[in-house]
Amino acid sequence: MKTTPLTPRDITALKGREKIACLTAYDYRTARILDDAGIPLILVGDSVGTTLLGFDNTLPVTLDDIIRHTAAVARGVRRALVVADLPFMTYQASIEQALLNAGRVLQETGGRAVKIEGGEFRAPAIRSLVQNGIPVLGHIGLTPQSIQTLGMRVQGRGAEAARQLLADARAVEAAGAFAIVVETVPAALGAQVAEAVRIPVIGIGAGPGTDGQILVINDILGLSGDFKPKFVKRYADLGALIAQAAAAYKTDVETAAYPAPEHAYD
Ligand code: KIV
Repeated sequence: MKTTPLTPRDITALKGREKIACLTAYDYRTARILDDAGIPLILVGDSVGTTLLGFDNTLPVTLDDIIRHTAAVARGVRRALVVADLPFMTYQASIEQALLNAGRVLQETGGRAVKIEGGEFRAPAIRSLVQNGIPVLGHIGLTPQSIQTLGMRVQGRGAEAARQLLADARAVEAAGAFAIVVETVPAALGAQVAEAVRIPVIGIGAGPGTDGQILVINDILGLSGDFKPKFVKRYADLGALIAQAAAAYKTDVETAAYPAPEHAYD
């Protein structure tokens, strides 16, 4: 396993060699644990808005939120490629806006790439970012920043929608993205997208036929309350463990079992 920091090129080169297991993280300690576990790409998603900040969707997340959390994650990581999500309305208004905000993220955080949502219509912005030295992870299919127009339903159903998704993937690749996230599409279409391009296609709710997977860390750890989309596999139930620990602590304090002599200074 390569121990020097992974670059966007290294991630691209994994296509066809190994399935790429990506996760989100928002803080230093979790990032260190994921990095030590060998996760090659850690995304500081704008899902920070729903997972940590308690919003209903990702729209209220600001560039300053992403900068603060990406810097924390980057401090925890030695090997993984840290990618920062550009939030809603920090790149949509113009290519100049995208360049200035993505540039700020790279200069101020230690993150080494950005993710932006959108397919064919976003290709000019992706091209300009890449030409100016900013690696881009694309994101097509269900794009949560378009929740008000697309909703949160499965994308790519029907011949025309499937054709558009393939065109989106090809356009994002041609614009220079080093990989693409494809979110919530039928499994057969996820596999077709992966076959259609030479860069890795990282699925989330896109079935087993993509080149890798990405999930939100809170979802796999059981820290998302009742939110459990069909595509999520829960690998731990930390929510229950935290509740148990808090209840045990409360009992100990109330019964004076804590602090014990070993917790007190002479
Ligand atoms: O914001 C996020 O965490 C994401 C991933 C789920 C792909 O966009």
